Amino acid sequence: MRSINKFPIALAVLLLIFASTFAVSAQVKMAKENFGKTPDGQQVELFTLTNKNGMEARIMDYGGIVVSLKVPDRTGKLDDVVLGLNTLDDYLKGHPYFGALIGRYGNRIAKGRFTLNGVEYKLAVNNGENHLHGGIKGFDKQVWNAKFVKTAKGEVSLVLTYLSKDGEEGYPGNLNVTVVYTLTNNNELKIDYTATTDKDTVINLTHHSYFNLKGEGNGDILDHQLTIDANRFTPTDAGSIPTGELKSVMGGPFDFTKPTGIGARINQPDQQLQFGKGYDHNFVLNGRMGTVHLAATVFEPTTGRVMEVLTTEPGIQFYTGNFLDGTLTGKSGKVYQQRYGFCLETQHFPDSPNQPKFPTTTLRKGKTMNSTTIYRFSTRK
Ligand code: GLA
Repeated sequence: MRSINKFPIALAVLLLIFASTFAVSAQVKMAKENFGKTPDGQQVELFTLTNKNGMEARIMDYGGIVVSLKVPDRTGKLDDVVLGLNTLDDYLKGHPYFGALIGRYGNRIAKGRFTLNGVEYKLAVNNGENHLHGGIKGFDKQVWNAKFVKTAKGEVSLVLTYLSKDGEEGYPGNLNVTVVYTLTNNNELKIDYTATTDKDTVINLTHHSYFNLKGEGNGDILDHQLTIDANRFTPTDAGSIPTGELKSVMGGPFDFTKPTGIGARINQPDQQLQFGKGYDHNFVLNGRMGTVHLAATVFEPTTGRVMEVLTTEPGIQFYTGNFLDGTLTGKSGKVYQQRYGFCLETQHFPDSPNQPKFPTTTLRKGKTMNSTTIYRFSTRK
């Protein structure tokens, strides 16, 4: 009798162990759907990554664009904290780099020119007289090869690869680029960049999400509290090209060394703020280049959301959505007005190919460029 009774109990225990293991791993999900076609007929897919806490990232292979990022608030409610559009057609009509991968060069190169190994290269000019974010058809407008990978830790990654051909947008060298987006179970969106070239070239890759920790479309970002671990920034001329100076932030509107409201000083009569129409500047990070260090922290008091940005890069472009003007309507039907999102674009400094004193952006033939940036989400009171 006894031995017969033991069997169902053992079975139940086994089932329970199996079910709980399965439940944990079942929460880490990946899915793929058709998102339309580009005008030249390339198929575009939308990939959904979900971690075990229910945090969700949707990323398309067109531009490596993060279309949505759902993150819990202090009560556990998920909201989409990045600006974005509803359909591929909306993206194709034009947008200010929402959620996109930027290459070959994040931010500006003065007059679209630089000299390397004694040769002058002329790049596509797409921002007044300057080259911005890789040119007319940058990495944000290319369809990348994409595939899901499960990491050793049981997390999900989307691996994107792109071959930028010698001469593309004026740059030398065939450049092989890999960008891996990983959604960790620690509520991080981690971005690993790798690139190799067959000719000496310049490179500066970044990611251009516009964040609003209240949720996309839910007002401006002026009340977000920002800390940037930077004692200096790179002031610019009226065309947003760095003057070459590394200027102290201390005591002025660029001092975010302690948590400060983004809007607290944004309208001060400061020439740099006037040039940028708000913040649109590169900060010189205090942390050591090449090792992952905390670059910035953002806290949104009403939802309790905290976003930390960690990076191996020496700089970060803080941009306050100054050029948003109410002409674009977001995913949930809300109009994006000026300053409805902010960007924290980890990077080498703008115009480095023309600034010998800035950390170099030259990538030599046969060498590998590696860079990592992490957007980490949590909450607090
Ligand atoms: C970057 C630039 C800005 C602007 C935005 C996109 O942050 O520095 O000047 O071009 O991208 O609109």
